[in-house]
Amino acid sequence: MTGPGPGHVRMVRYVAMPTAVGCARREALQCLKEWGLVDLLESAELMVSELVTNAVNATGPTGTRTPRYSELTNLGTVMLELRVDGEVLRLSVWDSDTRPPVLKDVGPEAEEGRGIYLIDVVSARWGHYLPPTGGKVVWCELPLEPTAGQHG
Ligand SMILES: Nc1ncnc2c1ncn2[C@@H]1O[C@H](COP(=O)(O)OP(=O)(O)O)[C@@H](O)[C@H]1O
Ligand SMILES: [Mg+2]
Repeated sequence: MTGPGPGHVRMVRYVAMPTAVGCARREALQCLKEWGLVDLLESAELMVSELVTNAVNATGPTGTRTPRYSELTNLGTVMLELRVDGEVLRLSVWDSDTRPPVLKDVGPEAEEGRGIYLIDVVSARWGHYLPPTGGKVVWCELPLEPTAGQHG
């Protein structure tokens, strides 16, 4: 069996509400199992969880609070993309907010404000950009093969 290649791309759009986080996590797990990237399941699930939580929070209007029925017509969307590109799995999440993600100065014990910190620690690279279609993309990369010095 050949390894995952350029054809390995999955994009899914979700309504920007808290349930999107669990849906995106399950999508990522399912997708990576299909692609045979079982070593990345745990770290990718964590990255997707933090990226989509932030995207839902930024897109609102209710952030991570469950919207009331009267608020359902105002919900935006967020989009998840999983893409194998060369030697990495790139996870990207689109949202409608143009403000950048901020790496907060917190320790690993912090319960809030550590999403980007975790992405910074676990991923090989991360960043954001403003696509021409509007909004913003926050992305991070996980190497397909463990690099020297990494264990587990
Ligand atoms: N997708 C995003 N859109 C806009 N701002 C973001 C986004 N992701 C992160 N941020 C900013 O970066 C900060 C740090 O994010 P994070 O480390 O996940 O902590 P928390 O979400 O608990 O605040 C957020 O408080 C927010 O100001
Ligand atoms: Mg967060």
